Amino acid sequence: MDITRIGVFTSGGDAPGMNACVRAVVRTALTYDLEVIGIRRGYAGMIEGDFVEMDGMSVSNIVQLGGTILKSARSERFRTPEGRAEAARRLREAEIDGLIGIGGDGTLRGASIFYEEYGVPLVGCPGTIDNDLFGTDETIGYDTALNTAIENIDRIRDTADAHDRLFLVEVMGRDAGFIALNSGIGGGAELVLIPETITGMDEIKKRILSLMSAQSRSSIVVVAEGDELGGAAKIADALRGDPSFARIDLRVCILGHTQRGGSPTARDRVLASRLGTAAVEALMEGHANVMVGIIHNELRLTPSRNVWQRRKTINYELLKLTEVLS
Ligand code: F6P
Repeated sequence: MDITRIGVFTSGGDAPGMNACVRAVVRTALTYDLEVIGIRRGYAGMIEGDFVEMDGMSVSNIVQLGGTILKSARSERFRTPEGRAEAARRLREAEIDGLIGIGGDGTLRGASIFYEEYGVPLVGCPGTIDNDLFGTDETIGYDTALNTAIENIDRIRDTADAHDRLFLVEVMGRDAGFIALNSGIGGGAELVLIPETITGMDEIKKRILSLMSAQSRSSIVVVAEGDELGGAAKIADALRGDPSFARIDLRVCILGHTQRGGSPTARDRVLASRLGTAAVEALMEGHANVMVGIIHNELRLTPSRNVWQRRKTINYELLKLTEVLS
């Protein structure tokens, strides 16, 4: 089937660089004489027919913007067969015959179920700060979030050092430790706790006590929000409840959604632009139910199912590095 009119949407947690990707999709599609419809608010907008025609000017001056001009949402209704039936009806009505979805694993999961049920070809672009998608070395937004985390860790280090304090800094990443591990290395953290490894509380206490007493200085522990011990606040409670920590001045800083905002880095802008263009070309070549990614600097297509069913592993060498360098 020839594709003549495509829909583009962003879905799930927004990520810096999504706009650069939308821009690349729209401008590439127009170059190939395709019509482009922007679907606002992800799958929620698809169900409600919240569609807007996109021309070249509609994506002017957005390459540098964080967030997403198409808005984003996590749709409960799209998880139901009725919601997906309504989305398919809306697409038929608008004569949209191909989709490009920019988002994380939830987006790709929804896309493959939708494809299996209704056969609407969809090519995904990996957009999430978590970097947890199999099929690409990096996801759109990860580099910006990582740099934001490091910038904040640097600031915390100034105040931690001034007061000889222990800081537990919590970073995002859901159940993946990519932001934690790499911001820990880049920010010179004394200890990094990630969901991919299990570190018992006793071990953590021992490590922190030896760091704080041997060097009598401040320390920064980077904690991934998905760490099995329950995040920075819970770990802090456990430390505060231990008499050996009575003399340690401890603070918690949760970086939270600051990591999701802001202007995308150069790396994210280039990645997003390459992936957006590649997604349009993949759709035109007849690919469906795949995600475009970049592995070892080469564009690759991965079946959507693999993206959310297979787990992308962290680099364990980097974990060792945090120990050696602390
Ligand atoms: O998936 C991106 C992400 O920012 C995760 O790192 C975080 O756990 C989650 O989204 C937060 O979601 P929400 O914005 O819905 O609170």
